[in-house]
Amino acid sequence: MNSPEEVVLRAEHIAKSFDNEAGDGQLEILKDVNLSVNLSEIIAIVGSSGCGKSTLLHILGGIDRPNSGDVFWEEQSVYSLKPDKLASFRNASVGFVFQFHHLLPEFTAIENVMMPAFIRGTDKETSRKKATALLKRFDLDQRLNHRPSQLSGGEQQRVSMARALMNDPSVILADEPTGNLDERNTELILSMLFELREDRNLSIVLITHEREIAQRCDNIYTLHNGVLSNS
Ligand SMILES: Nc1ncnc2c1ncn2[C@@H]1O[C@H](COP(=O)(O)OP(=O)(O)OP(=O)(O)O)[C@@H](O)[C@H]1O
Ligand SMILES: [Mg+2]
Repeated sequence: MNSPEEVVLRAEHIAKSFDNEAGDGQLEILKDVNLSVNLSEIIAIVGSSGCGKSTLLHILGGIDRPNSGDVFWEEQSVYSLKPDKLASFRNASVGFVFQFHHLLPEFTAIENVMMPAFIRGTDKETSRKKATALLKRFDLDQRLNHRPSQLSGGEQQRVSMARALMNDPSVILADEPTGNLDERNTELILSMLFELREDRNLSIVLITHEREIAQRCDNIYTLHNGVLSNS
């Protein structure tokens, strides 16, 4: 049995730089980021625009490689995985909600939600049933066959959340999942996340610029000057 104190996700000494526009140097975005997330814990990451929050979340989810440091999911070192293992780890273990949805425009809502299960090789009937139930839980049962362009911003965000849950990840990494949403949609998404924690011991890393949302989380971390501190 897992105990609530169990660490499910850990980042150690993460550093990340990008080439600057002029190509004559490096932009040092993350300098030495350390973070530990427990089972069933919901943490918020806040910080000014451009400080590196999305970059950090991508690194936590195995999407973008750090220059140095490593990320551990249940003690598995993510960046020592070979590319194919890293891809299947992402597919099976990480529920990622991108800042700008990243829904596939040519696919319907239900097809987008089914995609991670399709990649994993789950049979179509099972994944269709599961995707339908998830979309229903997000109040989208009347939108199964709409394409992203036919959905409102809040609806797209909810589809993206359903997709993140499709393969039963142990951790959800959500990049501003309530950005630009009205109060009702914000509440729907947050209450869903908190319910999931109760139901499945899910851990959640939430990036938000809204203090009221951050304050509802178990812990708030601020990213500033490339370092994360508990605030
Ligand atoms: N692929 C890239 N190449 C070069 N620079 C990048 C790249 N990705 C991000 N950056 C730079 O890194 C910095 C951090 O970007 P990031 O998207 O992580 O910020 P953020 O904290 O999520 O901001 P916001 O709150 O506006 O979403 C920015 O200055 C950005 O220009
Ligand atoms: Mg961002």
